Amino acid sequence: MKIAVAGTGYVGLVTGVCLAEMGHSVFCVDIDEGKVALMSSGISPIYEPGLEEIMVKNMDKLNFTTNYKEAYKDADVIFIGVGTPEKHDGSANLCYVYSAAEQIAESIEKDCVIVVKSTVPIGTNDKIEDIIKTKLVHNVNVSVASNPEFLSQGTAVRDTLHASRIVIGVEDSSAGEVLKEVYKNFGAPILVTNRKSAEMIKYASNDFLALKISFINEIANLCEIIGANVDDVAIGMGYDNRIGNRFLNSGIGYGGSCFPKDTKALHWLANFHDYELKTIKAAIDVNENQKLKLIKKSRKYFDSLKGLNVAVLGLTFKPGTDDLREAPSLVNIPIMLEDGAKVKAWDPVGINSFQKLHPDNITYCYTIEDTLKDADVCFIFTEWDEVKDLDLSKYSKLMKNPIILDGRNCYSLTSVKNANIIYDSIGRETINSLETLLV
Ligand code: UDX
Repeated sequence: MKIAVAGTGYVGLVTGVCLAEMGHSVFCVDIDEGKVALMSSGISPIYEPGLEEIMVKNMDKLNFTTNYKEAYKDADVIFIGVGTPEKHDGSANLCYVYSAAEQIAESIEKDCVIVVKSTVPIGTNDKIEDIIKTKLVHNVNVSVASNPEFLSQGTAVRDTLHASRIVIGVEDSSAGEVLKEVYKNFGAPILVTNRKSAEMIKYASNDFLALKISFINEIANLCEIIGANVDDVAIGMGYDNRIGNRFLNSGIGYGGSCFPKDTKALHWLANFHDYELKTIKAAIDVNENQKLKLIKKSRKYFDSLKGLNVAVLGLTFKPGTDDLREAPSLVNIPIMLEDGAKVKAWDPVGINSFQKLHPDNITYCYTIEDTLKDADVCFIFTEWDEVKDLDLSKYSKLMKNPIILDGRNCYSLTSVKNANIIYDSIGRETINSLETLLV
């Protein structure tokens, strides 16, 4: 089967490479010539564990090109995996999806199935089919199928090769059969449904997970007020199989390329149809507040951060990725700078991208020790292993005031008790105070 994939971002590239790993011949299309040259030489333009290895292993089945006509003209199946960024009003920007659809329509010379992998608002597959059918140049039959991805950054390859499920949304059963054939070696449960239901499964899944995180974050905030420990509460809840123990880590909110965008897009879509999705609205509002939780905590210790040395550990939205999209660091560091803080920041992979956005006013450090030296306060935004495994005595040895504000609950309360630090985390009691440390 000849497969083409439009777009080589997280979704497109991982899909293309994993389909090659499963034995298909795959053309990956991108408009960026530099990126295509890089990929053709076996280098992945994105940091994703395992991706480059299987890319190199399958180079004989992979073609990277800017020549979309060549890639699409005789393909059996064409995946659309381009971005759908958020617009200012919270709706999804579909211009890249529509332009890929137009290019496909003008290029295909044989019957094929066009598969929408990008996360698109419910009903978009119908519009894509209209665009393609109106703009077709050759007399061919096309079917449009929805096939959402459920991959997380950092584990995208594993999530694709060992998928929890494969959802196929089609309006004609023959397209469903073609896609079952594409996925026959993946060994995952396959659900075939109609297109709108497939589109909805994607949004409902992501929004449910976002809601789960906002729920535990609210419980964490209440735990702090009443003196309970949210980590124990989450463990206790998780023993119930109906709740499950995953996605119950409280912190400074969810970020990344999916949850913030997909919650807003579904809420926007419901509003458009005069329906208010109250639970999703609550998830969004709680998350916006949660992102500022550590800054609010810092006010307990300092009226302002003016003139203080602030150490920041972690810039990316989660560990295992260099992605900064919707990362808490992006909203918190500008507030610190506005306050007049002297910020030193560390991240094992995110510094380059952050530096592009903030070239001045921040000292970027390549070791945690350099970051902590003489700091008045330390903010933890990402639970990198290097942070979790840090010898806790370094905080008190290196910092001027060992005040640690941990937005990811990296340490157990028992481990910090003897570390001679003030440790303020999410949904748990604060360990030590300025008074007890001075004693
Ligand atoms: C997510 C979904 O998991 C994936 O299925 C979907 O296809 C794309 O969106 P991703 O954005 O890569 O994947 O990251 P994920 O690991 O889900 O984490 C998202 C955010 O939630 C991160 O900021 C993370 O720190 C936060 N999170 C996650 C929590 O705050 N608590 C948790 O318990 C889990």
